Amino acid sequence: MVLNRGLFITFEGIDGSGKTLQLELLTANLEKAGLKYLLIREPGGTSISEQIRKILLDRKNIEMSAETELLLFAAARAQLVKQIVKPALAEKTIVISDRFFDSTTAYQGYGREMNVNFIQNLNDFAIQGLSPDLTFYFDVSVETALGRLKDRTEKSDRIDLESQNFMERTRSGYLKIAERNPDRVRVIDAERDPEEIFKDLKLQFDKILNLVK
Ligand code: TYD
Repeated sequence: MVLNRGLFITFEGIDGSGKTLQLELLTANLEKAGLKYLLIREPGGTSISEQIRKILLDRKNIEMSAETELLLFAAARAQLVKQIVKPALAEKTIVISDRFFDSTTAYQGYGREMNVNFIQNLNDFAIQGLSPDLTFYFDVSVETALGRLKDRTEKSDRIDLESQNFMERTRSGYLKIAERNPDRVRVIDAERDPEEIFKDLKLQFDKILNLVK
């Protein structure tokens, strides 16, 4: 099926929010429906952005300053937008991104307590006029997220090692972003069972899909 135009959807949430499982469920669904989609993740998605990702997440880089971290996330995004996202949307593809600019506002702005207005300007510069059509924010308490992270087998990255207070600030940052962007951001209660969350997600996703068909 070919859409009238591309669609840009982003998934957001603190680490341990369960968004990755929901992404897998949604893309499996799109495949079944024969829809052309592209799944990307941030930071990453291009060769340059994946190299920046390695620097950002490497646990050895404990000396990284908050300013460096912010600029690297923005740099990885600028490359991804220009090289991948814009061309894919021009071809009427559904682009789904595991994290996008709201992560920078929530983690660097609110989590690291840097200047949120400046970060929003930097985000605008990096995305070159592109904004998601819809953002799903998976909201969980920090306790739930930490419980889920404990069960993970893979090694935690540099940002996973942050304190519980950092996670609390990041979560409340996301809630503020959602409050300020009610048309774009859908808050999904991610404390529920994965099947129930997916039902909710699918319903909202289908609504926007019908608008562009
Ligand atoms: P990743 O392993 O992709 O985590 P997740 O599966 O939770 O998305 O690691 C990305 C980490 O980088 C995650 O802790 C969130 C953080 N991050 C920021 O701090 N700022 C950003 O702008 C982005 C995109 C991610």
